[in-house]
Amino acid sequence: MSLLDLIYQRSSCHVHEMQHPAPDNVKLKRILQSVMSAPDHGNIKPWHIVVVDTDRVANMCELMCDAWLKHAAHIEPGRVRRLTSYLKDAPMVLLVSADIAEPHAVSRRDQVLAAAAACQNILLSAEQEGVAAIWYSTDAAEIPQVHQLFGLTKQQEPVAFIILGTKKTHRVKKRDQVDEHCYQWLGNQQLSPLFDKDE
Ligand SMILES: Cc1cc2nc3c(=O)[nH]c(=O)nc-3n(C[C@H](O)[C@H](O)[C@H](O)COP(=O)(O)O)c2cc1C
Repeated sequence: MSLLDLIYQRSSCHVHEMQHPAPDNVKLKRILQSVMSAPDHGNIKPWHIVVVDTDRVANMCELMCDAWLKHAAHIEPGRVRRLTSYLKDAPMVLLVSADIAEPHAVSRRDQVLAAAAACQNILLSAEQEGVAAIWYSTDAAEIPQVHQLFGLTKQQEPVAFIILGTKKTHRVKKRDQVDEHCYQWLGNQQLSPLFDKDE
């Protein structure tokens, strides 16, 4: 399959759409190596990845749940359990953080975006390796005590939980045409659609 076809056909697999096993170490290393060719303003390599193996996922969920219940009184316990219950079946969890160099000529934003680009490389490499993958982030960013739980420094900003496993079934999602997102700049404040409808 060409790289372009792989990208067109990549799709996420939610935890309930995947099964065990998690990728072995050889596959995992190949997938993670792709981080090193993510675009990176200033060649800072602002990437920090923590891997939670299958046999530690339950413990991770328990500690996350406790942290939420103890430190986020505004979130109702039912929601906390829902947020952690789908993760407990994850074959493998990666916590990808931006390891921010500060002060630095490269903005914090660019460093976070470099970490996001690394996440996309992981998703694409996983697809190539036949590994199921999905990016969840709300939870990663919102977990109280996330830094303590995962041994992160203050400068390490979580951007994604990426779940890896085995696809239950292979499916190709129908994707929309890109047309309505693309414009041609015709001069000051003037845009027109880049593609004709029939192109
Ligand atoms: C920054 C970011 C954060 C995301 N966080 C979540 C999340 O917390 N929960 C979720 O269900 N999907 C989340 N998603 C969306 C999924 O990763 C996935 O892209 C979506 O289900 C669409 O599937 P597709 O990638 O096959 O198009 C997130 C995506 C991105 C880029």
